[in-house]
Amino acid sequence: MRIDIVTIFPEFFSVLDVSLLGKARQSGLIDVAVHDLRDHTHDRHRTVDDTPYGGGAGMVMKPEPWGEAIDSILGDGGDAETETTVVFPSPAGELFTQATARELATARHLVFGCGRYEGIDQRVFEHTATRARVRLLSLGDYVLNGGEVATMAMIEAITRLVPGMVGNPESLVEESHEEGLLEYPSYTKPASWRGLEVPPVLLSGNHAAIAAWRYEQRVERTRRVRPELLPPPALD
Ligand code: ADE
Repeated sequence: MRIDIVTIFPEFFSVLDVSLLGKARQSGLIDVAVHDLRDHTHDRHRTVDDTPYGGGAGMVMKPEPWGEAIDSILGDGGDAETETTVVFPSPAGELFTQATARELATARHLVFGCGRYEGIDQRVFEHTATRARVRLLSLGDYVLNGGEVATMAMIEAITRLVPGMVGNPESLVEESHEEGLLEYPSYTKPASWRGLEVPPVLLSGNHAAIAAWRYEQRVERTRRVRPELLPPPALD
């Protein structure tokens, strides 16, 4: 998978070199390039923003640097470049979920455009959509200062689902948000710690009973903390 990131803070992404993603980068499974949006400005101050038409608070990111940056990544592919998805993290976007991560994990080429200030000129999304698939994606119902933190979170959620990225693929099966349920509680040795005991069923060696207990725990935990994730009760 190829990932391009456009940002005014390229140094922010140096953390990509560490952790699991660092290993995948070294092995060539995932190829990441970070681009400085200011390299596509042509004035002495390397300006990327301007005041909003119609007035209002804050600054808006200018279309020209974005247009050039995206052209330089997509090349002359024109309409043929439909294999690429360009993600703009935005609190005004559709919600990024585990299903979105699963879908994007099958992509060959992802581009992340990190906006700052009050957003990016709307025409950037429209023009980019003539050359690639465009998705405005939100991490959740809160506002960050820009798309960088959201991009890091999305890249981590997506790339760990790329085949070969996680040591044990089975560990992906019963985690939170797979099958629409939260994960079950986990325990390790010792069996007794500070007066707290591991649930006896987990020590029983009875695999069917353990699987049933874990499933019940997932349903019960989901009902308690995230009831909106469960299907509505069937009508009688
Ligand atoms: N940029 C600012 N806030 C954001 C959010 N909640 N999700 C994605 N990108 C953002």
